[in-house]
Amino acid sequence: MTMTTIDYDAWEQVLRTNTMAPLRVAAAFLPQVARSRKKIIATVTSWMGSIAANEAGGHYVYRSSKAAVNAVMKSLSIDVKAKGVIVAVLHPGWVKTDMGGPDATIEAPESVKGMRAVIAKLKKKDSGRFFNYDGTPMPW
Ligand SMILES: NC(=O)c1ccc[n+]([C@@H]2O[C@H](COP(=O)([O-])OP(=O)(O)OC[C@H]3O[C@@H](n4cnc5c(N)ncnc54)[C@H](OP(=O)(O)O)[C@@H]3O)[C@@H](O)[C@H]2O)c1
Repeated sequence: MTMTTIDYDAWEQVLRTNTMAPLRVAAAFLPQVARSRKKIIATVTSWMGSIAANEAGGHYVYRSSKAAVNAVMKSLSIDVKAKGVIVAVLHPGWVKTDMGGPDATIEAPESVKGMRAVIAKLKKKDSGRFFNYDGTPMPW
C-alpha cells in the first residue's frame, strides 16, 4: 500500500482495533485493575509505532495506529497515576506469527516469556514507558 493506494476505510478499521480497542478494554477493566495486587495495564504495540525509529517510511496505516496507541497509553499512565495503576507499552519483537511471517527472528513463546518477565518487573517509575520484549527501553 503506497500513499496513493491507501484504503481509508481499512485504515479506520485498523485504528479501531489497534488504537481505540486497547483504551476501551483498559477503561472497562480499570476498577478491577485498581483493586488488583500488581495494578498493571500492558499493551502490545510495535517498534513500527516509534516515530524516532522510523527510518524506512511507508506503512502509514500500521505505524499511525501504533504511534497513536502509544500516545493514548502515555496519557492513560498519567490519568491513572493517582490510583497507583502502572501503564506500559511493549514491542513483542519480530515474532513468527501470521503477521510476523516465517522470516521473523523469534518464536511466540520467547516473545511472550520476555514480555511476561518485563511486566513482572514493572515498578511505578516505569509507568508511561515503552519497552522491547527483552526489557530494553524503546525510543518514542
Ligand atoms: N508478529 C510480529 O512480529 C509483531 C511485531 C510487532 C508488533 N506485533 C503486535 O503484536 C500483536 C499480536 O500480533 P500477531 O503477530 O500475533 O498477529 P496475528 O498473528 O496477525 O494475530 C492477530 C490476532 O488479532 C486478532 N484480531 C485482529 N483483528 C481483531 C479485531 N478487530 N477484534 C478482535 N481480534 C482481532 C486476530 O484474530 P483472528 O485470529 O480471529 O483473526 C488474531 O488472533 C499485534 O498487536 C501486533 O501489532 C506483532
